[in-house]
Amino acid sequence: MRGILVSFLGADGIGKSTLVDFLAESLESEGVTVRRVSWRRLIGEPDTSWPVDGLQELWLEAFRTLVGRARSDSGPLSLPRDYAEWASGDGEAALARTELRGVGPAGPLASALVGLAGGVLLAGDAVEPALERGEVVLQETFPFKQVLKKLLVCRRIAGDDPAWSPLLDRMQAMAEDVFGGRLFQPDVGVLVDGPLDLAFRWRTAQSGHVGLLEDYRVAGDSGEAAYLRLQQETVEVFRRLAGQWDWLIHQVDGSGLEANLGRGRALVLGHPAFRRFLNPAPC
Ligand SMILES: Nc1ncnc2c1ncn2[C@@H]1O[C@H](COP(=O)(O)OP(=O)(O)O)[C@@H](O)[C@H]1O
Ligand SMILES: [Mg+2]
Repeated sequence: MRGILVSFLGADGIGKSTLVDFLAESLESEGVTVRRVSWRRLIGEPDTSWPVDGLQELWLEAFRTLVGRARSDSGPLSLPRDYAEWASGDGEAALARTELRGVGPAGPLASALVGLAGGVLLAGDAVEPALERGEVVLQETFPFKQVLKKLLVCRRIAGDDPAWSPLLDRMQAMAEDVFGGRLFQPDVGVLVDGPLDLAFRWRTAQSGHVGLLEDYRVAGDSGEAAYLRLQQETVEVFRRLAGQWDWLIHQVDGSGLEANLGRGRALVLGHPAFRRFLNPAPC
């Protein structure tokens, strides 16, 4: 029997990974084999045969294109030549703490396209084989999100420059169309929605700061207001697409982690596709 793909969208810090951990634990405790698939998770696997090797190099190139032109207080950035060197340092964490200047629109747009390439590999060569093996695949971030955020960063940098603005409109329409297609659309899609000020508090309580692409720092604007602006812009797109794609909406609030997780699990497991998967009709 074919497996089932459950994907999540939502602001950074709103609780997607936490809900996926919780769902995975409760399904596994009932004997269901679960695979958590994300680009970030895959590149940390010990077996670096295809598609992991390809995803590792694209991961680094997604950063290189995004910030390669930037300058920090200590001069131009210098990113490692290959993924092994990148992974052995703390390049990503350091970037998230660096004030960046001088990024133009080309880098973020190129990085969005690298993100799209990574998403295609993930869908075709990691998720699809797992579904063919009959596994439950939990995707804590539907890869459209990274593509959209980079397009928004590019838009913020380019403003209404006629060389970029119409191009970005077309690129976003293309991304929405591609991710709305059969290759990417999950069996169960879930938008995790809720107050962004809570998401900001939860995220910063976790790590002390927000990530490189969680505010507008690549466009030279960091901090809480920049986080809220980027997240608000992404969530508006997510809400429109959740309606169009017929995704579930899991509304989180300040009622406490356990209450939110319990509601989220009930919502996902109650989806008709999930109920059919867990209790297939006898043939
Ligand atoms: N409903 C909630 N109440 C309190 N804290 C929460 C809630 N949901 C998530 N958190 C906390 O917020 C932080 C960010 O959650 P995470 O799942 O990593 O978000 P995401 O994956 O959406 O970026 C985590 O430390 C998590 O424990
Ligand atoms: Mg997460």
